[in-house]
Amino acid sequence: MQSAYKDFFPIGAAIAVEKNGFDSFEQYPDRLLGEFGSLVAENCMKPGEIHPEEDTFAWEGADRIAAYAREHGMLFRGHTLVWHNQTASWMFSKDGSLSARKKFSRAKLKAHIEAVVGRYAKDVYCWDVVNEAVKDNGDARKWKSNYRESSPWFAAYGNATYIRDAFEFSRKADPDAKLFYNDYGLCDPAKRARVVAMIKELDLKKHGLDGIGIQGHWNLSWPTVSAIEETIQTFHDLGLEVQITELDVDCYNSALPNAQQYGQFEDALARRYAEIFACFRKNAGKITGVTFWGVADDHTWLEHFFGNKWHPDKTRKTYPLLFDEKHGKKKAYEGVVEFGTR
Ligand code: G3I
Repeated sequence: MQSAYKDFFPIGAAIAVEKNGFDSFEQYPDRLLGEFGSLVAENCMKPGEIHPEEDTFAWEGADRIAAYAREHGMLFRGHTLVWHNQTASWMFSKDGSLSARKKFSRAKLKAHIEAVVGRYAKDVYCWDVVNEAVKDNGDARKWKSNYRESSPWFAAYGNATYIRDAFEFSRKADPDAKLFYNDYGLCDPAKRARVVAMIKELDLKKHGLDGIGIQGHWNLSWPTVSAIEETIQTFHDLGLEVQITELDVDCYNSALPNAQQYGQFEDALARRYAEIFACFRKNAGKITGVTFWGVADDHTWLEHFFGNKWHPDKTRKTYPLLFDEKHGKKKAYEGVVEFGTR
């Protein structure tokens, strides 16, 4: 697949290297991973995973991805340095005034970024520095700001300037890395507008921001291709790189589990991926990467996520990727490759 897109953009996949869990390198042969030109860690580089205690780092997973990417001539995206989820509690203090708590967390943020970005400076070409820091849609009358105020980072700083610090610290730690802000739901105009407002309000381009990651957690009907195109254009017009990150297409539109079989979706999924990739090809000059949130349908976060909730003990099938559970190429794969060769 990557070879069909070599003149356009790298195509990547998220890799799981979970302790006592799914291991993409054990499950997937080189032939399958070789369909991609770029890798990203699904979980193991999030702060709470890679830096669980102040003096404890869990480098193993990220080191394995870095080594695989190096050996196979692939790119390596870093995900993610600052998030409200899977965070490390040692980075926050409950004691003292707001300014004391901010000082505490700012020092931890700096140390975390220096350690992680510094270690992978030769391997990671691009970082999701900050992930999902603006609000979802809802009742704006109750909001103090456009930002996710429930984030421990927002609480520690009392405002959103931690975002600016994260970009500054990352820029210092690796002057050559491409630095991204990554979020979902950006094809919704209201949420996108909040990200644009954030970029301007915090003057992020001056502080290191190079690009926007548009998470592609989409379904068979949402968002429309014109909304996708408008989103790419909005960030391109701001002089930013655009990457589609975390691409998958939920065939059940987030519905509860049921026993339907993939065959019923095969054509619909192929048509959907074809229109999405036709849009990417048309906008290839504005896109510097497309990453799937997984490799094949046997491992996808959507198995546990439905009805807007994570279900640790329940699963459903949703067939969101280009390779099936037995790692065979789906009809959607053929369409995607065809758009690359046109
Ligand atoms: O590894 C443990 C395992 O030991 C334990 O038995 C099991 C019990 O439920 O949990 C396992 O950890 C889970 C981990 O995934 C690895 O499978 C966590 O509970 C679960 O919360 C975690 O979910 C991840 C989720 O981020 C966390 O919010 C998903 O795999 C991952 O795909 C997802 O990725 C995010 C992106 O980083 C940001 N954008 C949205 C995207 C989807 O939510």
